[in-house]
Amino acid sequence: MRRIAQETINRVLEEVDIFEVISQYVDLKKRGKNYFGLSPFRSETKPSFSVSPDKNMWYDFGSGQGGNAVSFLIEYEKVSFSEAVRSLAEKYNIEIIEVGDKQQSNLYDQLYEIHNLANLFFTNNLFSKSGLKAKKYLFDRFFDDKIIKKFSIGFAGDSWDLLYKELNKKFNKEVIDKSGLFSKSKKGYIDRFRNRIIFPFFSPSGKVIGFSGRSLSDKEDVKYLNSPETPLFQKSKVFYGSYQTMPEIRKMNHVLLVEGQTDFLRLYQRGFNNVLATSGTAFSSRHAVALNKYTNRVILTYDSDNAGINAAIRTGYILLQNGFEVRILDLGNELDPDDYFKLKENSNSSFKQLIKDASHPINYIVNKKNILNKGAADRSKFLNECIEEIKLVNDLIIRNDLIKRLSNELGVIESEVLNRFDKISIRKRVKDKDDNKETSFRLYDSKSDKAQIEILKLLIHDPSLAENVTLSLFDNKLCYNIVKTVKDNHQKYNNIAQLLELIGDSPEERNLIAALSVDIPEKDSQDSILKDCIITLENISIKREINQIRNQIRIIEDNNKSLDTNLIRKLQELQKKVI
Ligand code: UTP
Ligand code: MN
Repeated sequence: MRRIAQETINRVLEEVDIFEVISQYVDLKKRGKNYFGLSPFRSETKPSFSVSPDKNMWYDFGSGQGGNAVSFLIEYEKVSFSEAVRSLAEKYNIEIIEVGDKQQSNLYDQLYEIHNLANLFFTNNLFSKSGLKAKKYLFDRFFDDKIIKKFSIGFAGDSWDLLYKELNKKFNKEVIDKSGLFSKSKKGYIDRFRNRIIFPFFSPSGKVIGFSGRSLSDKEDVKYLNSPETPLFQKSKVFYGSYQTMPEIRKMNHVLLVEGQTDFLRLYQRGFNNVLATSGTAFSSRHAVALNKYTNRVILTYDSDNAGINAAIRTGYILLQNGFEVRILDLGNELDPDDYFKLKENSNSSFKQLIKDASHPINYIVNKKNILNKGAADRSKFLNECIEEIKLVNDLIIRNDLIKRLSNELGVIESEVLNRFDKISIRKRVKDKDDNKETSFRLYDSKSDKAQIEILKLLIHDPSLAENVTLSLFDNKLCYNIVKTVKDNHQKYNNIAQLLELIGDSPEERNLIAALSVDIPEKDSQDSILKDCIITLENISIKREINQIRNQIRIIEDNNKSLDTNLIRKLQELQKKVI
C-alpha cells in the first residue's frame, strides 16, 4: 500500500475534532477547558482520561499514554496508522493524497498556488488605477488601508477574462476547472469574479482557499458572490476572518459571530477582534465542530431584522446542541453591526453594554416572539417546539438548564415540562468531581527536570518561544529531543497534534507531549515562568561546571602538582555568575 502524504496527515490533524472522534467511544464530561471520562484502555472508576479540544490531543493520566486523534484510533480500534488516517480523512471529507501520487499532490499545491496568484492579482488591482472606484467605495464605507491590507482585500476589474488571461498559461485545465475561479461560457472561460470587491478566505495556516466578492452597486442581482465548493473551500465549515482572529478568540474564550464580511470588518476595526463571520446566516453543525476547537462561548451578533432574528434562533439551537454557551445580542432597529456604528449615538461603550445585556436563547425567543402575550394553545405549541430542540441537546447540564429556563420563562412547572419529554430521563446526576489531578510526572522530580518540563510545556503550546531557549540547557534526554524537534520544525506545524507526527516513533516522547498538551499554561505568567526556569537551568549548569573545576583542583592538590591560576580565576568567575 502506498504511503499517505504528510500533507494529508497534516490536514487530517488540522481538521479533525478530537472531541467528536473520542466522544463516540468515551462518555466525556467537561471540566475547565478539557473533557474527562473513564479510560477506554483500563478499567477504572474515577475518570482519569482527558481530552483537550483546544490542542486536539488526549491523555490518560492513569497510564501516562496519550496522543492525537490518529493514535487514539490506533490504540482503540487496533488499526494501522494508515487505516486510522484514512478513516478520519473519509469522515472529514479530506482527499487522501499518497506519496508517489504526483498528480494529486500537485493538484493541491497548484490549487493553493492559483489562489495565491489570484489574490495577488486582486490586491494589486485595488491599488492600481483601475481600482480607484473600488478604493473610493471602500473609503466611503470607512474601510482604511490598514484594514484593507490586514485582510488582503482586493478588487476584480470590470472585464470578462482579465484573471483568466493572466493565469491560464500557468495552470492546466484541471486546476483551472477545480479552482472555482472561472466559469465556462459559450465564448470559453470567463472570470467568476468581475467588478467586485474581493474578500479572501484563509486556511488555518494562512493560505488563501476561496473568495467572496461584493458588487460595487446594490443594483447587481447577487450582492455577494462566493467561491463554489472546491477541494480547498468547504462552505459548511469555513469562517471569514478565522486565520486572523482565532488567537484572540482563544485568548478571550468567546467569539462574536456575525453574518458577513462588512460586519466582521467593522467590529474588528472598532477593536472587537474576537469576531468571526459566516457567509450569510447558514450555520451548520460542522461550523460548530470547527469553532469548538477555539472556544465554546458564542455571542450571536446577527442583523436585527426578521431574517436575522430567525437565523439567530436557529443557530442558537445548533450551538446549544453542540455544547456551546450561547448569548444573543440584540442590536435593535433592524440594524446590522456595520449600520450600528454608523449612527452617531452609538459607541464602543454602548456596544460593550449590548454584549453585557445579550440574552440566553430561551429568553431571547420568548421575548422576540412575544410568547407571553399569546394564548394558551400557542404557548403550549411553543413549549413543544422548544422541547423538540432541547431533546437534541446531549449535554445533561445544558439540557437541565434549558428546561429550568423554559419553565421559568413560561411560568409552567418544571415537572410538566419534564413530562413532555416523553420518557427521556434527564435527571441523572452528573458526577463532576475534581479528582485524579495526579499526573505521571514522577520521573521528573529533580529541580532541573522540573524546570525542563516547565519550559517544554510552554514551548509546545507556543512554539514561537523556541527562539529564546538554548538547547544545551537540556540534559534530560526526552526533553532535549522534543525541544530539538520543536526548535527545528516550529515553522512547519500548526498544532501539537501535528508536532507528534514530526516526533517519530518514540512512545516516551509522544506520551510526554500528550501529557503536557492537556495542561494548558497561563498566558499571563508565561514570560516570567520561562525566565525563572531558564535561570534555574543556567544556575544548575554553572554549578555543575564549578563542581568539575573543584574536582580538577582536588586531583591536582592530591597529586601535589602546582595549581593552574587560570583554573582559580575561572572558578571565581563562575561563582560570581550564580544567582
Ligand atoms: P447582508 O445582505 O446582510 O449583507 O448579507 P451585509 O453584510 O449587510 O453587506 P453590505 O453591508 O450591504 O455590504 C450578509 C452576508 O450574507 C452573505 C454575505 O457573506 C454577506 O456578508 N451573502 C449575502 C451572500 O453570500 N450572498 C448574497 O447575495 C448576500
Ligand atoms: Mn447585513
